[in-house]
Amino acid sequence: MMLKIGVGGRTPPFLVMDVIAAANALAASPAAADRRVIRMEVGQPAEGAPAVVREAVARVLTTGAPLGYTEAMGSRDLRARIAAHYGDWYNLAVPEERIAITAGASAGFPLAFLAAFEPGDTIALTTPCYPPYLNIMKALGLKPHLLPATAASGFQPTVAMLAALDPQPDGLLVASPANPTGSMIAPEDLAALAGYCDRQGIRLISDEIYHGLTFGKPTATAAALSPSAIVINSFSKYFSMTGWRIGWMVLPEDLIRPVECLAQNFFICAPHVSQVGALAAFDGHDELQERRARFARSRALLLEALPRAGLTRFSPADGAFYLYADISVTGQDSSAFCRELLYRDHIAATPGHDFDRVRGGDFVRFSYCAAETDIAEAAARLGRGCVGGR
Ligand SMILES: Cc1ncc(COP(=O)(O)O)c(C=O)c1O
Repeated sequence: MMLKIGVGGRTPPFLVMDVIAAANALAASPAAADRRVIRMEVGQPAEGAPAVVREAVARVLTTGAPLGYTEAMGSRDLRARIAAHYGDWYNLAVPEERIAITAGASAGFPLAFLAAFEPGDTIALTTPCYPPYLNIMKALGLKPHLLPATAASGFQPTVAMLAALDPQPDGLLVASPANPTGSMIAPEDLAALAGYCDRQGIRLISDEIYHGLTFGKPTATAAALSPSAIVINSFSKYFSMTGWRIGWMVLPEDLIRPVECLAQNFFICAPHVSQVGALAAFDGHDELQERRARFARSRALLLEALPRAGLTRFSPADGAFYLYADISVTGQDSSAFCRELLYRDHIAATPGHDFDRVRGGDFVRFSYCAAETDIAEAAARLGRGCVGGR
């Protein structure tokens, strides 16, 4: 007899993981011996955690300190340090009670969605977007309402887009800088969205995982703009700690206890050893700022090389470490384009299908957080042109 598969069991794949697997296989094959595979598919900084993090963890491991469960919301010292970070970066006083430590931003999403919404509730968000947003919502019985974003709105939602929705959604999810577009919401526009959400009773969720990785435009945190917003953040990107699985949330007062109860039941706590590393990460800004400067140089190289390759249209790459390029001029679907780029030029990039099920065939995401020498090599290979079959 066939057993039932639940709604979560029908979750679609996160396609970039399949691209990573194909690039891994090519990199391990004899074909890569002469020409290495350049990894531009993955949003993972080439270097790992900053030195201060590795040193702090080495110290704690050699002292034999018992790394046990922490409180579900995280260790008191890390919560306090993150609260202080809001003073340092945003000049904002956030009580440490409002900080919850999570296993990456990824664990923050189900905690936020379950605490704030009922099954069947609708959450508006723009597309293209980070695919797990939609897949997690659907697995939890929530309904994403996609707002097709275009260059006209800077690939971000606007109050007008929200106001046009009837019925109004229960939630709005924003990301600035966003993945895959690198686009940002100007502080005054985020304030307008936050104000609108508060007036309409729409719960705002702000994914701020790419804060710290911006190239000239100002950044605002939703925590400063709405008392009811949920902020999700992580040590994965600016702090370069992807594999440590550590992040945080800034919670509104009414969701502190609900998130704590969910976290106790779902996860017990985020990995303690990673909490130790995360605490030290705030002493790593010098090294991290050097990396940010390197991303800025890599971004400039690609913005120069891609037009030479015939690709001239991008979303605004104001932050994060992605360029989302319109490849429709090639006449190829983005999956075929990426396959060719991988097997012919040994450059791995992600087809837009992952981020936009409708228009993704026309777009490719290039991530530029690999080593600077790799990005320079990719720029040279791309600069030889990838339009028109060569
Ligand atoms: C926009 C966005 N949010 C969240 C995540 C998940 O990050 P984490 O490693 O903190 O779980 C990613 C990872 O790429 C991302 O791009």
